[in-house]
Amino acid sequence: MFDQETPLPPCNFVIFGATGNLASNKLLPALYRLELAGKLPEGLNFVAFARREWDDAVWREHVRTLLVAKVKAEGPCLERFVNRFDYLLGELNDPQAFHDLKEVLAKPKLGVCSNVVFYLAIKPSDFSAVIKNLDGAGLAKPRGVHRIVVEKPFGTDIESAQMLNQLLHRYFDESQVFRIDHYLGKETVQNLLVFRFANTLIEPLWNRNYIDHVQITVAEDIGIEKRADYYDKAGALRDMLQNHLMQLLTLVAMEPPPALEADALRDEKVKVLRSIRPISRRSVHAHAFRAQYKAGRVGGLEVPGYQAEAGVEADSITETFAAAKFYIDNWRWRGVPFYLRTGKRLKQSMSMIALRLRHPPQQLFRETALEVLEPNWIVLSIQPEESMHMEIHAKQPGLDMKTRVVKLNAGFRHPDENPLDAYEALLLDVIEGDRTLFLRFDEVEWAWRVVDPILKYWSQERDFIHTYAAGGWGPIEANRLFDGEDTEWRNAV
Ligand code: BG6
Repeated sequence: MFDQETPLPPCNFVIFGATGNLASNKLLPALYRLELAGKLPEGLNFVAFARREWDDAVWREHVRTLLVAKVKAEGPCLERFVNRFDYLLGELNDPQAFHDLKEVLAKPKLGVCSNVVFYLAIKPSDFSAVIKNLDGAGLAKPRGVHRIVVEKPFGTDIESAQMLNQLLHRYFDESQVFRIDHYLGKETVQNLLVFRFANTLIEPLWNRNYIDHVQITVAEDIGIEKRADYYDKAGALRDMLQNHLMQLLTLVAMEPPPALEADALRDEKVKVLRSIRPISRRSVHAHAFRAQYKAGRVGGLEVPGYQAEAGVEADSITETFAAAKFYIDNWRWRGVPFYLRTGKRLKQSMSMIALRLRHPPQQLFRETALEVLEPNWIVLSIQPEESMHMEIHAKQPGLDMKTRVVKLNAGFRHPDENPLDAYEALLLDVIEGDRTLFLRFDEVEWAWRVVDPILKYWSQERDFIHTYAAGGWGPIEANRLFDGEDTEWRNAV
């Protein structure tokens, strides 16, 4: 994204899990948009690896239908895109399927079999089978460009993440591994770096002297869709908080890197993660909260509770809402709580970083002794609204000396500028070999280290979980994390 490297020569791009949710909802639309933008190199060929009993023709028709519905794809560009694909029927744990893959990759039509990208759009529990089978078929160490893209969550806890990393490193060196966290591909997330480091105005405020606390919210109105198989074992902490929300936290809290290049940026992020005060077993209750949705109404529709979702155990206590409080023990942030919160089936989908500033020392303008002036806020809305603003006080016009909150808006996208999907940016980075927006293993490892005590504690407390009605903002009990009595979750941009 930030570095310009030599573009990928002609190459095979293998998508494992090609018929899955991620491929259908994110990868195929994003790759098609790159085709439309003329960004896909001439010799780039895709192999869709999946276990449906399909052939090339059925797969291509599936891609056409999907892309027409999702991105209104049409015309020669759509045909060029679908014709880049071969379909390979195979099971991830079947070694023979990987020998078949080797043959597909060696097809003379392609003539480029030494360059290959493997994209693991599959459940984390299948990663190691794929890596071993790639090796078994002699595909793990091809000549030429050789990249592997691993989706999050990377492991299920610190030990499994370390094991997965060792396994990967047996066949791939670090420069070939692309650990993806698609939040880093969102433009509004990248804009946070610009907001912080390109504006002299911001830096003096961005510390414990002025910031009272930070809230990071990633709320979703959707449920678990058809992903019970994965989600019921993962839960919100592993699915969202350990990765997407922790990444947002690092970008808010890090020091300016000496350069916007892959390792400089990651070094600063790791320093933040290492400075997070460890949560002791005894303090998990005060630092973390989990809950699960019950039936309710979202967007005017009745939706079932989590335990009634297809594929979920009727007595599952997997959390669909997770909140945590972290302290970063460094000079900039000492004593400033960072509250992170994420949940499914909440009132609306909304991702936002909100920094509340401290109250001014004097309350000169309050009307009565009971009325305390609203604090100032800096709000960065990531999605669906893409905006940044500061909330400050101004005089209310009129004879009285009253104040009201006004917003200083820093618009992000002009109406004629099209939004980019995070995957578009990241897939192009994979194709071009730029790892700036991908995770280095120590980031992943430190993020696991931070949440590990919570995971361990929760895995032992198996008999109770708070619940919340679908369609609300989560349970009121989550407020127990707040230090200040006047603190509440901010639910609106
Ligand atoms: C994925 C999670 O990483 O992010 C999903 O596995 C979640 O559960 C998704 O729905 C949210 O992504 P976005 O870009 O829609 O906020």
